[in-house]
Amino acid sequence: MKKELTNKVFEYYHSIGVYDRIIFKEKINNKIEELEILKKEIENKSYIYNKQKENLVFSDGNLNSKIMLIGEAPGFNEEKLNKPFVGEAGQLLDKMLAAINILRDQVYITNVVNFRPPDNRKPTIQEIQLFRPLIEKHIEIIDPKVILLLGSTALESFFDKKYSITKIRGSWLQIKIKNKVYETIPTFHPAFLLRQADQKKFSWEDLKEFKKYIDNNNILNAKIN
Ligand code: URA
Repeated sequence: MKKELTNKVFEYYHSIGVYDRIIFKEKINNKIEELEILKKEIENKSYIYNKQKENLVFSDGNLNSKIMLIGEAPGFNEEKLNKPFVGEAGQLLDKMLAAINILRDQVYITNVVNFRPPDNRKPTIQEIQLFRPLIEKHIEIIDPKVILLLGSTALESFFDKKYSITKIRGSWLQIKIKNKVYETIPTFHPAFLLRQADQKKFSWEDLKEFKKYIDNNNILNAKIN
């Protein structure tokens, strides 16, 4: 009964535009503030790989999206432009999204490690662990309804060495952060697909599954709550 009344009040505020003008705006402002605080926290990790805070690659895309993509770590081009997935792998990622009718600005993109490792090497397990509380905080702030984990490092960040990306890709896995459960689906990293084009057929299966979940749950139209 109480819930019904709350829904009615909510619907009423929506209908007269109060939700969009006041409540939604305030939520976005809070989110921006929380992201700024997180950014400062991550900047404090710039000592890793002897970087400066100016080298931070924080995120790209739409901060109000309920779809989050998590990669490994920035490369040369990403560090130069302070944006994730802008190099060759990023271009392939854009194509992968386009194949399922999703635009880059309909998703929120970040990495497990937010600074570029030396020689673009894979982050070590210690480095992944150092960043783990930060990516968890990042998820909490964005509060996505679905997360696409791009590659083995993103998978390891949440599940350690429990799964192999080759075996588990395309399966739904849940992560729990402060009692909230998030749905994730791992798939191959686009940089891997650039090296192993014959694996694209598997990635296509995963993307279709990911899109089916998005459509079934109307996630592209979901508002922040
Ligand atoms: N690979 C990643 O994992 N992230 C980027 O931002 C770029 C390449």
